[in-house]
Amino acid sequence: MTERVEIFEVGPRDGLQNEARLIPVEEKIALVDCLSLAGFRRIECASFVSPKWVPQMADSAAVLAGIARTPEVSYTALTPNLRGFEDALAAGADEVAIFGSASEGFSKANINATIAESLERFRPVAEAAVAAGVPLRGYVSCVVECPYDGVVAPDAVARVVAALRDMGCYEVSLGDTIGRATPESIVAMLDAVLQEMPAERLAGHYHDTGGLACDNVEASLGLGLRVFDAAVGGLGGCPYAPGAAGNVATEAVAERVASLGYEHGLNMDVVAEAAAMARRMRG
Ligand code: HMG
Ligand code: MG
Repeated sequence: MTERVEIFEVGPRDGLQNEARLIPVEEKIALVDCLSLAGFRRIECASFVSPKWVPQMADSAAVLAGIARTPEVSYTALTPNLRGFEDALAAGADEVAIFGSASEGFSKANINATIAESLERFRPVAEAAVAAGVPLRGYVSCVVECPYDGVVAPDAVARVVAALRDMGCYEVSLGDTIGRATPESIVAMLDAVLQEMPAERLAGHYHDTGGLACDNVEASLGLGLRVFDAAVGGLGGCPYAPGAAGNVATEAVAERVASLGYEHGLNMDVVAEAAAMARRMRG
């Protein structure tokens, strides 16, 4: 039987959050509606963060209210604190994510907290999600390199992964936030992380600044990972990671995993339509 790889579509969130032009809510809804027909199981389309920090995501509730939901799809949102969690639930998010960092510099720049403070802030969110039966995902940023602190030690990543696991995250997504990883540095990082969490509960979230994201996906497949975050059209970047390029393109990951014999279950005509739409949305 052909083995399955899941691509977790993050374009409407990670892809669009960094666009300078304020994209009208109708355009965001149209993108999510198109993606809903492509065969994804999970689409990240909202982020309940401070609108002062990320203005582009201020209309997240309107996006969730306006989309035509496909029952097979889980529509997910970032929630940095309890307020974000409550707003996400009220807006109808099916799943939420807390997002930490393996490096102090990025943690401070992105969420204005040390790593330890951020974990304390996530705890009530995690407790509320677990109590409400809402699936909780975790992110760790800067798993290989940080734009402020430089190279990040694999053990530092493993420690944050363990903390997110203990809070109840069913899956932790490992972010090469600035897209500087190589297959070698990804393998070294995963060797440490796999001591804390099995490959079935990890996802690769690779940005493509260095053009090696698909090679990093391939290296991760070799260590058992089967979920990868990607954005149609290679949209994105992070407002608090200067110089970082977009997420690896969904269509590139799909092509790579298919060439290696994995099934991704996506309708590539619909993905191509969404990618064209995403590219038109770019400033
Ligand atoms: P803070 O300034 O320390 O916190 O920000 P605060 O509690 O003092 O709040 C500041 C203001 O935000 C207040 O408003 C709050 O009410 C408001 P004011 O009194 O000044 O008018 N506020 C909120 N508003 C709406 N929704 C909320 C919320 N919380 C507070 N949930 C905070 C701390 C975490 C809020 C802020 O730093 C923040 O929002 N950061 C988000 C940054 C972000 O979204 N970055 C991009 C996502 S992460 C990423 O892209 C990486 C990833 O893709 C993986 C990878 O690639 O590595 C996931
Ligand atoms: Mg990202």
